Amino acid sequence: MVKICCIGAGYVGGPTCAVIALKCPHIPVTIVDLNQDRIDAWNSDTLPIFEPGLQEVVTQCRGRNLFFSTAIDDAIRAADIIFVSVNTPTKKNGLGAGFAADLAYVEAATRRIAAVAQSSKIVVEKSTVPCRTAESMRRILEANSRDAIRFEILSNPEFLAEGTAIADLMQPDRILIGSLPTPEGRKAQHVLADVYAEWVPRPQIITMNLWSSELSKLAANALLAQRISSINALSAICEATGADVDEVAYACGLDSRIGPKFLKASVGFGGSCFQKDILNLVYLSESLHLPEVAQYWKQVVDLNEYQKRRFAQSVVSRLFNTITNKRLAVFGFAFKKNTGDTRESAAIAVIASFLNERAHVHIHDPEVSAAQIELELVQPGVCTQAVYDAQVHRFADPYEAAKDADAIVICTEWEQFAQLDYQRLYDSMHKPAFVFDGRLILDAPKLRQIGFQVEVIGKPAAPKPGFNA
Ligand code: NAD
Ligand code: UDX
Repeated sequence: MVKICCIGAGYVGGPTCAVIALKCPHIPVTIVDLNQDRIDAWNSDTLPIFEPGLQEVVTQCRGRNLFFSTAIDDAIRAADIIFVSVNTPTKKNGLGAGFAADLAYVEAATRRIAAVAQSSKIVVEKSTVPCRTAESMRRILEANSRDAIRFEILSNPEFLAEGTAIADLMQPDRILIGSLPTPEGRKAQHVLADVYAEWVPRPQIITMNLWSSELSKLAANALLAQRISSINALSAICEATGADVDEVAYACGLDSRIGPKFLKASVGFGGSCFQKDILNLVYLSESLHLPEVAQYWKQVVDLNEYQKRRFAQSVVSRLFNTITNKRLAVFGFAFKKNTGDTRESAAIAVIASFLNERAHVHIHDPEVSAAQIELELVQPGVCTQAVYDAQVHRFADPYEAAKDADAIVICTEWEQFAQLDYQRLYDSMHKPAFVFDGRLILDAPKLRQIGFQVEVIGKPAAPKPGFNA
């Protein structure tokens, strides 16, 4: 019987290891973290992250074979397999600042394993890391290990998306396990594959060398983000020509070589992964003296910045070139629907522009608290505490948020935003009342019938009276 420990009780470590515990009731799984508050929340009825289906999985396993703890050393000692699932944010200072991944947390976790392990372990790199990080981990572990203790490093990147994490984990497209091409490496690969094989069909568990596995994760995220930047670039052309980006995406997506997914135009992608991982790839390319390759991938992020800017600017220009002292109701602060995660959310950049123009911003999001909004907005480059206090308000009720506003700005594709009573919203707003749909989720013709001025990313502007196109 194997025992599992997961270092890092975040968006990945928590759901991933909770699902392992659910599917492998015979395997004890302990998820550990330095953050006591986070562990307390995992042990409470209010989990630290909102993820559909997660509560049910945790409730079923917690106390049976799933444990959350800050006793990191004990969990390391007891485990045979240790997942390292700590954060790898973009470096803020020093060499590679703004591009490279900060590996300080991975290194600290690795050193902890080396310091306290009393038996051989399989150490699994679950965090998204630059290519060849496993090599550094191996060297740290070997340099610090004592006699007869062996460490095998595996790369097992995680492909779950937030908001659908549980479904993604239950039925993954594939499980990737990279190892060194040694007999010990292959053996470790089999041990981990056997865990996943409890619920994932064997043909979907693929093995490869460590460096391919590490790079595949960065590559998959870069390719996904590239599709979004491509459709967003096309959305700008649509607006200028009268084409409709949804129709263009539909027509292109029917080509089986292109496929329909990930072609939804938007105000820009957010989340903790896409930008970070592409910048990481850019840094890797530059370090390998491949400036053209670096430039190619950098453009995916640049286009995303452009899209956020373009959307915010269109709001200002449609509101008669000034939003000073106007109220703007921003619907959605999370980086996508069905999550409370706000990391790198497009809403932050859009709101920063509004605050810079001295607008009053009324924010409504079903899952994001006022404290979380404040944490994201009171930052260098966004706004000061004084500006936040004077100009930002969070509303639990969307109708209150829109009262006396000049515009509703949709930043997240929460389905409930399409179900609101827009006549009621319209009646309470300043006229002319505007809607800016940054997610293409609203019924624009219906809103126009009510009287709204509607602007949708990638869609032709409303026909002007008397204009027969
Ligand atoms: P997170 O910030 O939510 O969680 C990381 C946790 O690790 C934190 O709770 C932190 O306290 C803990 N931690 C850091 N150092 C530690 C240490 N030395 N010992 C114990 N605990 C420590 O991050 P996340 O979103 O779960 O991402 C984790 C990794 O997975 C990242 O590399 C990320 O790129 C990757 N990833 C994330 C997603 C996603 O959707 N969030 C998807 C796939 C991969
Ligand atoms: C992503 C990857 O999808 C996942 O495989 C990886 O493990 C982690 O990074 P995540 O960031 O959680 O997952 O969500 P995702 O669904 O990829 O959305 C990322 C951003 O792109 C969101 O802001 C989303 O709204 C936006 N998006 C997505 C679009 O704008 N258009 C689309 O067609 C799809």
